[in-house]
Amino acid sequence: MSINSFIDNESGIKGYSYNSHNKDNDQANTIIKLWVEANREEVLSDLHHFPALIFRNFPISSPDLFEDFVRLLNFKPYSDYTDLPKESNSSGVYKSTPYPNHKPILFHNESAHMPSWPQYQFFHCLKVAEKGGATPIVDCRKVLNELPAKLVDKFTIKKLAYVRTFKDYLDVSWQSFFMTSDKDEASKRCIEQGYNFKWLDNGELQISTISPGTITHPITQENVFFNQVQLHHVSFLDTKTRDSMEEMFGSDMMPRNVFYGDGSVICDSDMNLVKQAFDKYAVRFKWRRNDILMLDNMLTAHGRDPFEGDRKISVIMANMVKKNDFLS
Ligand SMILES: [Fe+2]
Repeated sequence: MSINSFIDNESGIKGYSYNSHNKDNDQANTIIKLWVEANREEVLSDLHHFPALIFRNFPISSPDLFEDFVRLLNFKPYSDYTDLPKESNSSGVYKSTPYPNHKPILFHNESAHMPSWPQYQFFHCLKVAEKGGATPIVDCRKVLNELPAKLVDKFTIKKLAYVRTFKDYLDVSWQSFFMTSDKDEASKRCIEQGYNFKWLDNGELQISTISPGTITHPITQENVFFNQVQLHHVSFLDTKTRDSMEEMFGSDMMPRNVFYGDGSVICDSDMNLVKQAFDKYAVRFKWRRNDILMLDNMLTAHGRDPFEGDRKISVIMANMVKKNDFLS
């Protein structure tokens, strides 16, 4: 057999390793195609039982081949995402989040604060960082079960209100986000995409939206902690940054913030419980060049550890689903 399965000892992640010498030719493509046809159902089922899946040693060394592989698995890459830079020449492949190397990207379910999000997410490692740079993964069913029932109820019943105030010099501009420099057109797109919005006196745009704090998984019917609360909550800024940003902008005008859906503040002690649950169940594996990581975005959250040296990971978001189908 040219493709064998394995379990990564450190993380419990299931992997599939390509073991043939046919790395870069039609024969390799045939081997992969036949394997995918025979194993696609198993891959989907494995996603519900393992924190993630890795495809290792496959002869996939470019963003285009990465996208071809995802399509071969019969997933649909999303190509209209405006919150990440695209890989050049690729229709559905994005660069990973540009964020200072020395800072962690905290746990989040991809696009859980947006009008639609990917059911599945893929990462392709083109360059392994010299030090650090893991993609920590956490099973959000375990996170939900770890949290006190009262806190889960708050996330489920109140939901979450994400508030974003576009500051050109700090984040993606509203022009890039809505792909227009015309204010009327941007307003129209806010309405179409279900955002509440207001233009501030200084010309900045502020948008807000209610999104779930938990969901029921559409296939397994399990309850899952599903959101971007850790990524958007001010308690996760370092003290100096939090103080200076609150002083500069005020809590109502922070570039990104999150509240309970009724507008009440999510207190730091609630967020500490969330952090403890994420940290308790987080798993990590060591990236190898050309690894492809596959996640069910509605079962697992991911982040990024700080790193040194160059690191290059591409991203594909696949099979988009609409938020409104998950808001009761
Ligand atoms: Fe992400």
